[in-house]
Amino acid sequence: MPGIVVVGSQWGDEGKGKATDQLGDRVDYTVRYSGGNNAGHTIVVDGEKYALHLLPSGILNANSTPVIGNGVVIDLAVLFEEIDGLTARGIDTSKLLISANAHIIAPYHQVIDKVTERFLGNRRIGTTGRGIGPAYSDKINRLGIRVQDLFDDSILAQKVEAALEQKNHLLVKVYNRRAIDPGEVTRHLLSYVDRVRPMVTDVTRVLNRALDDGKVVLFEGAQAHHLDVDHGTYPYVTSSNPIAAGACIGAGVGPTRIDRTVGIMKAYTTRVGEGPFPTELLDADGEKLRADGAEFGTTTGRNRRCGWFDAPVVEAAVTANAFTDMFLTKLDILTGWETIPVCVAYEVNGERIEHQPMTQTDFHHAKPIYEYLDGWSEDISGCREFSDFPQTTQAYVRRLEELVGARISGIGVGPSREQVVMLHDLLN
Ligand code: GDP
Ligand code: IMO
Ligand code: MG
Repeated sequence: MPGIVVVGSQWGDEGKGKATDQLGDRVDYTVRYSGGNNAGHTIVVDGEKYALHLLPSGILNANSTPVIGNGVVIDLAVLFEEIDGLTARGIDTSKLLISANAHIIAPYHQVIDKVTERFLGNRRIGTTGRGIGPAYSDKINRLGIRVQDLFDDSILAQKVEAALEQKNHLLVKVYNRRAIDPGEVTRHLLSYVDRVRPMVTDVTRVLNRALDDGKVVLFEGAQAHHLDVDHGTYPYVTSSNPIAAGACIGAGVGPTRIDRTVGIMKAYTTRVGEGPFPTELLDADGEKLRADGAEFGTTTGRNRRCGWFDAPVVEAAVTANAFTDMFLTKLDILTGWETIPVCVAYEVNGERIEHQPMTQTDFHHAKPIYEYLDGWSEDISGCREFSDFPQTTQAYVRRLEELVGARISGIGVGPSREQVVMLHDLLN
């Protein structure tokens, strides 16, 4: 069972870090294939909390080789800050491999991310401000800087100059900001070259050889299906392809290499930033979910918007990712509700529709139709077998499984590594 992809099935922060960490020492390579340090993956091991933004969660497992694929955008300052932070806590990061084709987030990408958001006013996306969109725009515009460009000073200088030519006009004439000096940017990027050089390799070749040898390669998605630039709630999305197919592009492995796709879903729904969210609760119930679930962003510290579980949203992700398994997280957070509403369909313009609407306009107007499931009051954080759950908790899980159309193979009942109930092995 060598190739497995972990993907968020909602709007991010489902607990992908924890789910990835579950496979632990059985994984030979853990690969980030999309996004950048807009991600924040939290893992709790022996009471120690780790928040990873750019490095794959597998970095915490000594037997797993962490890999950053070509589909990732890398802020070098953040990369080394994260490496230094982990090293100081006794984590060995020396096995990290980075694709020569990964793109670099330069300081001007962050500036442009922030000024464009300000310029958009109430049409803003609510980005993380980390320069993600502008870095991917340059990649697609063929104005990007790749990791391998660091190894040729004169090429790097030319590319930085080309990338800044139009941007400086925009910054000065439209955004009323200072022009950015290409020489300064080049020197800044070159200051990392000696540290990064030993990590850089042909990741595609390494991973394909590993798969040939029957090694287990886990592709750790960042963001989520509904933040995907093609499949998400565009334009309120990130600028990459977090979906399972993105693993093939962002790491250089063919689709036939992927044996399992695991969708991570929170027992309710959260979203950070702007964009449609039919089951959002803007009342005391939403506040309670936020407080009980500690729903504050790992990356930006922003409040996460909270609402009930939206089955059509997850079902859309199941369809497009062909999830073989689901990992349900934060079930413990729902303890204490007498009834738990679950969105099973929507009302749009007076009509009942079973699936996520095809158009954004209809999705904006979709009103959730709820089914009310019985809650439970028992503390479930100590449960380790499905049969340990109260009957109503079991029924909640089984109903979600039916509604989304994929089996639930793992259930998180707390943030720690051992707080999990496994129903099916994710590797065999
Ligand atoms: P990711 O971006 O998908 O990796 O998720 P985040 O790390 O941003 O957010 C998930 C949060 O929920 C983290 O603080 C995790 O420690 C926590 N978490 C994950 N699974 C569970 C769970 O089953 N129960 C509880 N209570 N917390 C969990
Ligand atoms: P993880 O991997 C939740 C959201 C931002 C914003 C939109 C675009 O931890 O689940 P960007 O900076 O990417 O251009 O912002 O996407 N967003 C996330 N929301 N979890 C994430 O990552 C996210 N990464 C980006 O809030 O709405
Ligand atoms: Mg997160």
